[in-house]
Amino acid sequence: MCKICWSSLAALLLLGGLLGYRFIFQGDTLPLADGRVAIQLNDSERDLLLSEMRGFLATLQAITEGATGDDLALAANAARKAGIAAQKGVPVSLMSKLPLAFKQLGVDTHRQFDQLALDADQMGDADHTLGQMSRLMQNCVSCHAAYRIALADES
Ligand code: HEC
Repeated sequence: MCKICWSSLAALLLLGGLLGYRFIFQGDTLPLADGRVAIQLNDSERDLLLSEMRGFLATLQAITEGATGDDLALAANAARKAGIAAQKGVPVSLMSKLPLAFKQLGVDTHRQFDQLALDADQMGDADHTLGQMSRLMQNCVSCHAAYRIALADES
């Protein structure tokens, strides 16, 4: 009897561990022939992610304009909007589909925008701001090199 209990418990723990591994580390992903990983999202999740991305691009434009046009307040305000607070609206269902490394890169990018905003306000040094932007953009480059979106059948 107890032998059965123990084996069922072990099987359940194993299953729980595998599911946990899948959701925490892997997300809902598939390997692609070009070496990247496809994250499987539905339409609305993809739309949300891509609109955040277009926001990132607009932020970089505003930071460049501010840093080269002697208007670091413009750069700071744009960067702050892309800071960690911007991440609050992301639904848990989308979060659970993203691999851990992807989420870490995303969080680090938002944090770097916050730091850039703080320094732009406090230091007022355009070269420093542009250097921070260049470092931050390494995150854009490495995430795009590693991931793309695939539309999942479910919606
Ligand atoms: C954590 C990962 C990650 C980071 C960091 C990241 N991106 Fe993206 N981005 C993606 C993915 C995934 C796509 C979708 C690519 C695909 O499916 O082909 C994307 C797409 C885009 C698009 C296309 C949007 C559209 O409407 O088609 C733009 C523009 C973009 N990213 C800009 C940026 C910029 C600028 C940064 C840095 C400030 C950045 N991204 C950082 C993952 C990331």
